[in-house]
Amino acid sequence: MPLVLDYANLTTERLEGVGIPPDVLHHEIADDFRRALATLRAWREEGRLGFLDLPDTPGLADSVRRTVEPWLDEVDDLLIVGIGGSALGAVVLRDALGGVRWNVSARVRAGRPRLHLLDNPDPDSVAGLLADLDPARTAVNVVSKSGSTAETMALHLCVRGWLEEALDPETVRRRLLFTTDPKGGVLRAMAEREGIATLPIPANLGGRFSVLSAVGLVPAAAIGADLDALLAGAARMRTRALADDLRGNPAGLFATLLHTLHVDHGRPIHVLMPYSDRLRSLALWFQQLWAESLGKEGRGPTPLPALGAVDQHAQVQLFMEGPDDKVILFVAADPDADVEVPVPPGAPAELACFRGVTLGRLLDAERRATTEALRLSGRPSATLEVGRIDAGALGELFMMLEVATVLAGALYDVDPLDQPGVEAGKRFTWGLLGRDSFVPPEIPPADPALRTGEPG
Ligand code: PA5
Repeated sequence: MPLVLDYANLTTERLEGVGIPPDVLHHEIADDFRRALATLRAWREEGRLGFLDLPDTPGLADSVRRTVEPWLDEVDDLLIVGIGGSALGAVVLRDALGGVRWNVSARVRAGRPRLHLLDNPDPDSVAGLLADLDPARTAVNVVSKSGSTAETMALHLCVRGWLEEALDPETVRRRLLFTTDPKGGVLRAMAEREGIATLPIPANLGGRFSVLSAVGLVPAAAIGADLDALLAGAARMRTRALADDLRGNPAGLFATLLHTLHVDHGRPIHVLMPYSDRLRSLALWFQQLWAESLGKEGRGPTPLPALGAVDQHAQVQLFMEGPDDKVILFVAADPDADVEVPVPPGAPAELACFRGVTLGRLLDAERRATTEALRLSGRPSATLEVGRIDAGALGELFMMLEVATVLAGALYDVDPLDQPGVEAGKRFTWGLLGRDSFVPPEIPPADPALRTGEPG
């Protein structure tokens, strides 16, 4: 089923006095969309939107399959070393397409490798993971567009040292794959010097827009996902997301409605709340994409991840009755499996309504009930209906949210493709580590009076 955006609960049709009235939708918002689409087209003309070309990049899926194939009989674990946009997509692909039990169930994996992400240089996590893995049965994919991010470089060296302690140099080389810029960066130089296999991240593709490049396709291939279906789904959505008619364009509606609800209705917080464990990590991926692309020059919305139904017992209280500054975006999906709730004869009367009910139906009822309760509280929400969570649906989702992000960049009048704030932190980190030509920040000494618990 093609992805559907149900946005009735953002409009006055269902949210009287609070939502967006039809004349605003058909005039101001339609005009905003036309301008944003023109900006997107100009950026595409300038060659800045490499993600739009990924679905039909010749040989992309084949080159990834050829690279991953030799590992499949040799390894039990694949480590993805990367951070931010270079990392989060792998987890979405694993959880959505492999299922959340991928790493713990040999039955689910059916002989394919477990997939681990090393993003945070937290020594407890890294030491713990490496202690549990067998270097002789592990492959490592280092992912960095710039090929010079401190966390990724350090983790790469740690993992490499761990491999080298156990294996001969030739085996280490065969177990490494660098996914990086086609020309620049430390990783590219090392790969060329040492004959390590590489896959390119096109020059016009930033980390957070790279999930449909080799960055995401390598982990997807490792878990046996259908790469062609993933890219075909993205291509289908690209057609819809670049269409001029706003009414049929989910990316255009997503971007313009959220932007309007922020700047004209005072709702800067955008909550993405999938009702599916398999899509929980999508909310984290979206958070990174939306925040790093749009938060600049004093502008931008605040994305907030949530999970249905768990957050009905946590954040939903805040969404329902806290500050009226949020738009809730539900994601509805059809589970692959379902579980009937068995109600034994003689069960308490209060539980009798579970008779014949499945957990899938319960979860769906919870989402619909929360949507309605929010509406009655005058709180806007919309629902992305995904249908079955397969490779095609995921390709559609990724492409829709990426195009929406670029359109939102145009609407907020920021460049969605740069990240000057992140770069500043990266430079200071290298400076503090004493890397040549990087200047450390001048951090003023701490005033003991402003630190609790300091000895007097
Ligand atoms: O989305 C982005 O551009 C960033 O989050 C990067 O992915 C992140 O900073 C890692 O950068 P790199 O891929 O260059 O190592």
